[in-house]
Amino acid sequence: MKIHVLLSPLNVDELYFAKKTTVVIDVLRASSTIVTALENGAREIVPVGTIEFAMKVSGNAFGGQTILGGERNTKKIEGFTLGNSPLEYTSDAIQGKSIILYTTNGSKAIVKAKFSENLFIATFNNINTITKHLIKLNLDIQILCAGASGMFCIEDTVCAGKLIEEIKKEKENIELSDAAKASLSLANSFGENINKMLHECEHGKLLIENGFENDINSISKVGIFNVIPYYNSGVIKKMVFSDEESKSVKDN
Ligand code: MLT
Repeated sequence: MKIHVLLSPLNVDELYFAKKTTVVIDVLRASSTIVTALENGAREIVPVGTIEFAMKVSGNAFGGQTILGGERNTKKIEGFTLGNSPLEYTSDAIQGKSIILYTTNGSKAIVKAKFSENLFIATFNNINTITKHLIKLNLDIQILCAGASGMFCIEDTVCAGKLIEEIKKEKENIELSDAAKASLSLANSFGENINKMLHECEHGKLLIENGFENDINSISKVGIFNVIPYYNSGVIKKMVFSDEESKSVKDN
């Protein structure tokens, strides 16, 4: 198995992802919101690349059972029902709904990777389950860090490194690209105390300034959810396991 980490979506174009297995990470906060929403019973998430498209999709599709969610500059967008705080995505708010999600970096990174053969969404909350699934798949992996407006960000890269670290614990003969080795090394340096790292990174500080410190506390909980978000034909759904598979997920 070969693992490569893309430190920013800007390094490649959409066609790069064709025939690849990709894991998109936007720890603060799109991946964490998606994982939480699916865990709490959302029917699906529709990631979009522009606010205009979000408006268009919510008007015409999915039989009116849609909720607009997302952020601009970390704040809820005017006319949207929900922002991008995972804590807003409670069962009461989103059970059975299709959520059209627009975010500054995360939803755009997912849309960019849409030609992937397999496309998963990961964050610290679901890292254990996704690790097990990737090991089982045994395919080469591209980890796409959503970053910050095309720039590197530490929280996505540390999460990528943690994912690699977990895979390496269970599997031999993993071939790592230079960026994957660098991510692993960052995970060794900053991954011991995820909560601290998220409080001290640039985007974490911005979220705290804007009143979202509780989001960080929830997002830093490692492995609390078993959900694997899987993108197919424009929507992200919870992967459904056979009885045997879900037993092994629960046992671990
Ligand atoms: C993003 O996509 O950049 C984010 O998820 C931003 C945020 O909501 O904090």
